[in-house]
Amino acid sequence: MIKIENLNKVFETGGIKFEAIKDVNLNINDKDIYGIIGLSGAGKSTLIRCLNRLEEPTSGSISIEGVDILSLGKEELRLFRKKIGMIFQDFNLLKQKTVYDNVALPLYLEKMETKKIKEKVDLLLDYVGLKDKKNSYPSELSGGQKQRVAIARAIANDPKVLLSDEATSSLDPQTTVSILELLKRIQGELGITIIMITHQMEVVKQICNKVAIMDGGVVIEENTVENVFNNPKTTLAKSFIGSVNTLAEEEIINPNDFKGKLIRLGYLGESSNNPIVSQMIKNFQIEVNILSGSIDKLQSTSVGHLILELIGEESEIEKSMDFLKQKNVTVEVIE
Ligand SMILES: Nc1ncnc2c1ncn2[C@@H]1O[C@H](COP(=O)(O)OP(=O)(O)OP(=O)(O)O)[C@@H](O)[C@H]1O
Ligand SMILES: [Mg+2]
Repeated sequence: MIKIENLNKVFETGGIKFEAIKDVNLNINDKDIYGIIGLSGAGKSTLIRCLNRLEEPTSGSISIEGVDILSLGKEELRLFRKKIGMIFQDFNLLKQKTVYDNVALPLYLEKMETKKIKEKVDLLLDYVGLKDKKNSYPSELSGGQKQRVAIARAIANDPKVLLSDEATSSLDPQTTVSILELLKRIQGELGITIIMITHQMEVVKQICNKVAIMDGGVVIEENTVENVFNNPKTTLAKSFIGSVNTLAEEEIINPNDFKGKLIRLGYLGESSNNPIVSQMIKNFQIEVNILSGSIDKLQSTSVGHLILELIGEESEIEKSMDFLKQKNVTVEVIE
């Protein structure tokens, strides 16, 4: 488990202070695939770079598997870093070295026997599907293949945690899916906790179980992916989800243009298969206009959203909304 408490990072350039991370608290459980999403400059990279101390926090504490990592001395830190692999948007491969040598590098540094290194690298390249590219150079590989090399290198020392900083951001959608599938397999089969920085909710939706949303150095929302999709609290969360469903329409729907009451419904899993809206229309004296609707397929369930206009007496509208809430639908009035 990773426990981040009251973490702050202040950069100082030319006497000017800038708070990149402000009082961040997060708990990341073993085997989570934990998404951190935010706009450019939100502090995502700074936050995960604090986890392996590529960046030194200004204050706060971080414990990983019970170890207070901010108290580690130089040699302890070197050993500890073996437990944390990292991958990047631009792969960070050594251009002058072959695929084999890139993956072998962390093992050379551990002074592993040459024979063992060979066995291990062959195993890793097989695992990431690049057995036949062993002697190629990075310049001879596609972006997806380069990221596979970087992933093999990042897991060579059998880490407990893998940090991924926009690892799929420069890949096309299809290659992104294949890399996400590989990461998911790594989490499942090797039991590695993965922290995924991204600015794409699609990535969160495909492989994360939890997500934190960052804005201006602050974690403004944090929950299971299901809950964030079902009932996003902040405007930023809504706009990120809006990029993958019609929730964005809420932004362009102006309640003043409608005579009825506008409500947004969110419902999970089995509720999405029940004809709740038609039941509501039968039970109460109201008319309903459906303004937008969508269903997002998450990994374990689906999340539906509907924006409705309810027309009728206020008391009937109240009863209708109570009815929906009893059916475990989240109901929010759009003002
Ligand atoms: N070494 C540094 N010195 C001064 N300011 C920095 C430094 N590193 C980052 N910052 C500032 O901290 C803020 C957060 O940067 P960070 O790289 O963590 O953002 P990010 O969320 O990863 O953004 P992006 O999505 O563009 O990668 C930015 O305003 C950035 O300019
Ligand atoms: Mg970044």
